[in-house]
Amino acid sequence: MVRDIRITPSILNADRANLSSEIARVSDVSDLIHLDIMDDIFVPNFTFDFDEAKSIISNCPIPVDSHLMVAEVDEIAIDYAQAGSASVTFHVEAVADIRRTAREIRRYGARAAMAIKPKTSIDSYIDFFDQIDMVLIMTVEPGFGGQSFIDEMLPKITRTRELIGDRPIWLQVDGGISLETIERAAVAGADTFVAGSAVFKAEDPALMVEALRRKIAIH
Ligand code: DX5
Ligand code: ZN
Repeated sequence: MVRDIRITPSILNADRANLSSEIARVSDVSDLIHLDIMDDIFVPNFTFDFDEAKSIISNCPIPVDSHLMVAEVDEIAIDYAQAGSASVTFHVEAVADIRRTAREIRRYGARAAMAIKPKTSIDSYIDFFDQIDMVLIMTVEPGFGGQSFIDEMLPKITRTRELIGDRPIWLQVDGGISLETIERAAVAGADTFVAGSAVFKAEDPALMVEALRRKIAIH
């Protein structure tokens, strides 16, 4: 089956001092820019505060996919939608009210997405699929770029694809996506791919985005 696919480079490990030029290197060939927000509570790492994030979102030439790895995310997720994110992802492990949070994100015109850590099962969240626009299956423990893709997540990707059925929900994977792993994730059912170090450690990030896309064009 041919599905639409999206490549969403993560700027987590891009050059922080020159973020706008780093983004400019990939924006023509990417579908969205993936912005990782970490609070040093939900994960043991910190990235951007809200003012920094707002400025990245408003200056980005293509839509921004905000991935919130923060505790007590309900109100924060709404703030990121209001700040102009095209998509806001909250973790099911950090949200109190999935229905309300997803509804409020959508009310600001953003896509609502829920993320699942490697040890969390997707099956308990099927009831929320009519409220969301994307599921993110983490293929590493959230917190850091440059980790290895966890192959044991492949059955979870396939299971999520089954649960999605005919719904127009995107299925994103994040963590360890590279030329070596992207095909496995696509065959399992993913259609939206975050790639951080694979893209920004490449000599030519735009060529890498295109190479990743070509690798899965036939699935
Ligand atoms: C990790 C972040 C990822 C990270 C991916 O917790 O959510 O988006 O940037 O980096 P790579 O592609 O290097 O695994
Ligand atoms: Zn991410």
